Amino acid sequence: MSSVLAVNNLRHRYGAVEALAGVSLSIQEGEFVALLGPNGAGKTTLVRSIVGLIKPTSGTVTVAGGDPAKAIVRRRLGVVQQDVGFPRTLTVAEVVEGAAARAGGDPATAQRALDEMGLDEVRKRRASDLSGGQQQRLQLAMGLVGDPALLVLDEPTVGLDVSARRAFWLTLAERRRGGTGILLTTHIVEEAAAVADRVVVLDGGRVVAEGTPDELRRLLPGRRISARTRVPVEAIRAVDDVVSASAEADRMVITAIHAEPVVRVLLDLDRDLRDLEVATPSLDEVLSELTTDRERVAA
Ligand SMILES: Nc1ncnc2c1ncn2[C@@H]1O[C@H](COP(=O)(O)OP(=O)(O)O)[C@@H](O)[C@H]1O
Ligand SMILES: [Mg+2]
Repeated sequence: MSSVLAVNNLRHRYGAVEALAGVSLSIQEGEFVALLGPNGAGKTTLVRSIVGLIKPTSGTVTVAGGDPAKAIVRRRLGVVQQDVGFPRTLTVAEVVEGAAARAGGDPATAQRALDEMGLDEVRKRRASDLSGGQQQRLQLAMGLVGDPALLVLDEPTVGLDVSARRAFWLTLAERRRGGTGILLTTHIVEEAAAVADRVVVLDGGRVVAEGTPDELRRLLPGRRISARTRVPVEAIRAVDDVVSASAEADRMVITAIHAEPVVRVLLDLDRDLRDLEVATPSLDEVLSELTTDRERVAA
């Protein structure tokens, strides 16, 4: 397998702000990596460095063996960025065919992208007449043309409804099977984790965790137990396996290494207990545990 992306010790400053503080990351052919992290983590800056839009302060980026500042290398890249427009007077087909020509790929890749994004039926419509969701799908189609070695997508699912998102994940899975490497950022953490081979968590311009979705979930051990109960919270805190317990009105939320001993005590002490639930921590919980909420800090 060869590497389609190699990022080595990348740093970037915007004046006083250090947006990237030494990031290294690599993606192999056919590998799908989800880049996650809170607002301000540096995701967009990393994406912009990878696609050659900004020149990082130091460090290197290699895409498909070359420097993404060079046009010839950028042709191997499919890019979907946040808030980028397209020529609104052109038809949908013209926009996508134009993107295919710029990518130097087979014009037939335009038709494939139109089909994948469900845009074939509106191909003759002006881009400006599309709905918001269709415009987003047009952005995605522009990134998919030209058989890229690496696809880089910054928040590609914003504005897509559930069914469009599902279709989009399937398209990416198929592209990855064809050998395309994929790097994407998203807020829809669980959906991305379901399809990603690897998750990289960025915070404060640094990689703070990296692994398969399951490896990351295991970083937060234990179970979340919740129930409506009158059992005093102190009685539960005294149970060996309990890590933390809190109660609000009659609803108790417990974190424990194992669920069974806690559930046994709860049921012994309270015959009227209701709404008992046992869950494994979600990846969202793991992420908020791993990262500081900079947005809240800034507010
Ligand atoms: N053009 C810019 N000028 C100054 N600061 C910026 C600029 N773009 C981003 N930043 C700052 O760099 C940090 C990282 O931002 P960004 O890469 O957009 O993060 P993310 O995409 O993870 O939300 C933030 O503190 C942000 O405010
Ligand atoms: Mg961003």
